[in-house]
Parts: sequence; C-alpha cells; structure tokens
Amino acid sequence: MVSARIEAIAVNDVTKTYFTGKISYKALSGVTLSIAKGEFVTVLGPSGSGKTTLMNLIGTLDRPTSGSIVLDGTDVSSLNDNSLALIRNRKIGFIFQSYNLVPYLTVLENVLLPLMVDGKDTPENIAKAKGMLVEIGMEGTFNKKPNELSGGQQQRVAIARSLINDPSIILGDEPTGNLDSKTADAVLNLLTKVSKEKDTTVLIVTHDPHVASVSERSIYMKDGLIERHVKNPRKET
Ligand SMILES: Nc1ncnc2c1ncn2[C@@H]1O[C@H](COP(=O)(O)OP(=O)(O)O)[C@@H](O)[C@H]1O
Ligand SMILES: [Mg+2]
Repeated sequence: MVSARIEAIAVNDVTKTYFTGKISYKALSGVTLSIAKGEFVTVLGPSGSGKTTLMNLIGTLDRPTSGSIVLDGTDVSSLNDNSLALIRNRKIGFIFQSYNLVPYLTVLENVLLPLMVDGKDTPENIAKAKGMLVEIGMEGTFNKKPNELSGGQQQRVAIARSLINDPSIILGDEPTGNLDSKTADAVLNLLTKVSKEKDTTVLIVTHDPHVASVSERSIYMKDGLIERHVKNPRKET
C-alpha cells in the first residue's frame, strides 16, 4: 500500500567524485532516494561507503558531481551559495560529529544561539530550550561552559541546539555515538517525538542496530550505492 506522504527529500541519481590532485575517487555512484516528510530514517554501512558524503550533499554543505537534490520541492542543486546558506539556516538542523559549541557561551546560550541572531531569544524560547535540555538529562548545567562538560554532555547541547529552530529536516552523523545507552535512548525519544509531533524529517547515520531499530526505515549503503532499504516494525515509545 502506498500512503500519500509528502516528499521532503529527493535524491535523484546523484554521483560525487572527489579530486585530490590528479587522483579522483567516486564516493557516490548514482544514489536515488526518497524520504517522506516526518519520516525517521537511519543510514548504515561500512566505513568509506559514502554515508557522510550523502549527508553533506543533502545538507547542502557540498554539491553533487551529477544528479539533483530536492528539499521540500526546491531543487537545491541549482541554487547559489547565498540561497543555500538561507536554506541551511531556516530548514536544516545539523548534529555534527564535532560539536562546534561556542566556548565562551553557556550551555543555555549555545542552545539559543540560532535564535539569538534573529533576536528571538524570548522568554518562551528560553523556556523551550530549558525544557529540551531537561528532557535529555541536562538539568543543572544551564550556566556551565562547554569545557566544564563531558563529551556526551557537549553532544547533547549540540542536539538541543539543532532542534531549537524547529527545522523541517534534521541531519546527524552518529549523533548518539558518544552517549551511554540511557542517554542515547533519551536523545532518540526526543528525535522520535519531534518527527511525530512536528512532522520533522530525521535522517541519521548510525552503526548501532538499536538506533536503527527505533527508526522507521534503515538504508544500507555499500561502495557508494544504496544496497537495500529495510522497513522497521513500528515501536511505541
Ligand atoms: N574530501 C574528500 N576528498 C577525497 N576523498 C574523500 C573526501 N571525503 C570522503 N572521501 C572518500 O570518499 C569515500 C566515502 O567517504 P565517506 O562519505 O566519508 O564514507 P563514510 O561516511 O561511509 O565512512 C571514502 O573512500 C573517503 O576516503
Ligand atoms: Mg562518515
């Protein structure tokens, strides 16, 4: 049965070749992929299979060598750098492997940073940021600086920051990689909740079969291609 879900991400026959000097390497060999709005998808596959390359292209941090990428109906392959930067800021929440926290800002300020640029650090949004931090076990840390936190705590701040702007798409590369299983579950619950309640599309790379099992669909990559899609049984969280 085909359900009438709106398409959030379309990847159409995308290739990516990296050039280092005279040597070229084809990291993606023709990837086609459709992800629905509000869908929670995990990407798996061995190291070097092209997972990060695919995430960077969907996140508009890099451009395909050929093929096109359409986000919420906009073909981003044809946009200039300024338009891409706007789309990234408004539409996409990134959970990077390096956390990119601002060292002289507090935990709360780091989470609010995407809103502060627009002067939207209102009492409502401050309460929202605090609520999100509490939900992932970060109560009592609001006024700490990143260097007072463990790696796992910094990762959680980065996750809360990626969600504060209500992005329509969240992209993560191993977002639960440094977390103990209890904290990883709290983060997964939060991601599942936003995907359900706010119809946010979540696409994350993981090596963890448990993380994969929580998502609606898992995509397995190999040698720059999608090898298979696996629908996961629905779980009540
Ligand atoms: N900037 C780059 N320049 C050259 N080769 C790269 C670059 N980024 C990735 N690669 C190569 O492309 C392939 C896919 O890399 P990547 O997408 O990072 O895979 P994964 O995230 O699945 O481990 C690897 O062989 C990697 O060495
Ligand atoms: Mg990678």
